[in-house]
Amino acid sequence: MQLIVTKNYSELSRKAGEIVCSFICGNPNGVLGLPTGSTPIGMYKYLVDAYKNNKVSFENITTVNLDEYLGLSKYNKHSYNYFMWENLFGKVNIAPKNTHVPRGSVIFCQRECHRYNKILDRNKINLQVLGIGENGHLGFNEPNTPFDSRTHVVSLSQSTLQANSRFFENKNAMPRYAITMGIADILKAETVLLLACGKNKAQAVKDMITGNCCEQVPASALQLHKNVIVVADEDASSLLS
Ligand code: PGA
Repeated sequence: MQLIVTKNYSELSRKAGEIVCSFICGNPNGVLGLPTGSTPIGMYKYLVDAYKNNKVSFENITTVNLDEYLGLSKYNKHSYNYFMWENLFGKVNIAPKNTHVPRGSVIFCQRECHRYNKILDRNKINLQVLGIGENGHLGFNEPNTPFDSRTHVVSLSQSTLQANSRFFENKNAMPRYAITMGIADILKAETVLLLACGKNKAQAVKDMITGNCCEQVPASALQLHKNVIVVADEDASSLLS
């Protein structure tokens, strides 16, 4: 794994934005795997600015998102689909038909997992951008998810419910289940770019890089991948010696 330590969040966002922009410029027909959450927001701002300044075009880029809450329609402002339109898709020249997010409002979840796996099979991810959970999750692959998992339904862990409740005014409205692409899908990406920011991620970052490669720490699966770049701020990398 290549580790890039940045001073703070704005430097992390710029570094991540630069890596994604240079990927897009070199692979204008490429496939990007994308995350949601608070960490990538600055990177998305960088990408929108780069697009507005004619430095990058999303015209022929395809995106596949990591995950979505179950039970929320794409018009719900807490859904990850809504997040993506607010932060990126609605602000750049990407073709809507080339954007893929799991559907959270489905009744037949297994059918949706199957549909999403087919999308992933047709669109090999060139660059997968990831955040990391305090519990070491990737996407919504919670601790003890098998490394050979593909898209599946998850019951969110207490740690994730606690961490993500900050986005919901009414805690009871927060979904307890989600659909996520699997660890195997993430490991198939050609390159992985993982972003981590803040002291609350320091233990997870340490476990990912220097701990045992085991299913209790989903992010440790990245030790099996040959091409991983971790961009972490000083706080998130503070437990690494
Ligand atoms: P965050 O979430 O960017 O909101 O911290 C990351 C994650 O849970 O994967």
